Amino acid sequence: MTYIDHYPEGQPAAARTLGDTPTIHPGCHILRSQVGAWTELGAGTSLVDVTFGDYSYTAGDAQIIYATIGKYCSIASHVRINPGNHPQWRVTQHHMTYRRKAFGLGQADDKEFFEWRKEHACHIGHDVWIGHGAIIMPGVSIGTGAVIGSGAVVTKDVGPYQVAVGVSAKVIKQRFPDEVVEQLLQSEWWNWDRATLEARFEDLLDLQTFLHKYTNVTA
Ligand SMILES: CC(C)(COP(=O)(O)OP(=O)(O)OC[C@H]1O[C@@H](n2cnc3c(N)ncnc32)[C@H](O)[C@@H]1OP(=O)(O)O)[C@@H](O)C(=O)NCCC(=O)NCCS
Repeated sequence: MTYIDHYPEGQPAAARTLGDTPTIHPGCHILRSQVGAWTELGAGTSLVDVTFGDYSYTAGDAQIIYATIGKYCSIASHVRINPGNHPQWRVTQHHMTYRRKAFGLGQADDKEFFEWRKEHACHIGHDVWIGHGAIIMPGVSIGTGAVIGSGAVVTKDVGPYQVAVGVSAKVIKQRFPDEVVEQLLQSEWWNWDRATLEARFEDLLDLQTFLHKYTNVTA
């Protein structure tokens, strides 16, 4: 056995000190997107027409199109959010019917078709954890605090703090009781400014402490 402390030797590990400017790793592809502070986009991530909130990150090879992603979201590798549907109603559903320019079949692409795709945007709340390889289908919304299991195909909305798994994904549980969920949503801790986050950071590590300090309920 060979113990390997660090490979390749002499090269620093990928920068892990984040900041106001997004940390974007090699091979990312970004078009028409807003990316927040303290964010990290893992290698090979693609964002097209996306709003990506502060502190959220992708582990790599994520593809996200026409979507809003809240703050503090954890997106595992190989997640796909909003894989575009093709026009099943046309004689051919091939993409030449809307990517006309590329095929020399029109002066312009099919604007109306892309508008239709945009109308089926995905909305991901704050502090959502999306597991490895999950697929969030067009038009689906996922509530704040939810968990999506690895490999899930999510075809219907998932509520706040619910845990959904499987193909197609079903809710198997809720992380906390309703009244706790209500209080967490009301607290809107994800909107704390940086100074407040730093001052109260430890309180995010323990539910009882958080509820005691910032809400009317105890878990
Ligand atoms: C969804 C998840 C968080 C649930 O974890 P948990 O709360 O500990 O739940 P359990 O392991 O007790 O599983 C509960 C049930 O759901 C099933 N289940 C768990 N994860 C599942 C998944 N991803 N797909 C299908 N079923 C799953 C379990 O088999 C179990 O079923 P059973 O009650 O019939 O036995 C976890 O399984 C998961 O998928 N994590 C994502 C990990 C990941 O992708 N990380 C990437 C790095 S960020």
